[in-house]
Amino acid sequence: MSTFLGFASKNVVLEFGEVMIRPMRHEDLAQIIRIEEMNFPMPWSVKAFEYELEQNKNSVAFVAESNSRVIAYSVAHIIIDEMHLLNLSVDRNFRRRRIGELILTINIDHARQYDCSIITLEVRKSNLAAIMLYQKHGFRQTGLRRGYYEPYGEDALLLSLGLANAAC
Ligand SMILES: CC(C)(COP(=O)(O)OP(=O)(O)OC[C@H]1O[C@@H](n2cnc3c(N)ncnc32)[C@H](O)[C@@H]1OP(=O)(O)O)[C@@H](O)C(=O)NCCC(=O)NCCS
Repeated sequence: MSTFLGFASKNVVLEFGEVMIRPMRHEDLAQIIRIEEMNFPMPWSVKAFEYELEQNKNSVAFVAESNSRVIAYSVAHIIIDEMHLLNLSVDRNFRRRRIGELILTINIDHARQYDCSIITLEVRKSNLAAIMLYQKHGFRQTGLRRGYYEPYGEDALLLSLGLANAAC
């Protein structure tokens, strides 16, 4: 069973209505895969999500739900005192409504709660929306992984947020 480390669901009211952040469940996967395939050229498979939910004890996975519909999700690993954010994705129909920001800050809060000293992630060099989101929350570039992304070998920026002095 994936480790949710005690996170109960949290309701947040945004401009367009109420959003619930809660741990990801197996029954969410059909909706998640639909969003995943729309958002990424190399989408994760159902098996990849199942592994995170059912086997990887370091995994922390959340969904944002509105009117019983999954509209965003995230997957991160917590290993000792480091969180690595592997996936964060918002349904195209719900973009620019602060959902990405909400699910990111839930992950940051979660990392703090479990005494992580740093959060790291990779992002495509061309993904300006995501880079702006992460920069807004204090992430800074700490590395470059050349040719990291399949299938065309796009570079990844390694971004990090140190939690000791984080401004979020
Ligand atoms: C990146 C993504 C998660 C942003 O989610 P979102 O819910 O639309 O973003 P939010 O409404 O929370 O925006 C928060 C901040 O992100 C930045 N941002 C988001 N979308 C942006 C865009 N299209 N252009 C520029 N900045 C953007 C802004 O700084 C914004 O703050 P502001 O509104 O005060 O300017 C979303 O576009 C997405 O799912 N993209 C596809 C999947 C992906 O690339 N995931 C990241 C992988 S590393």
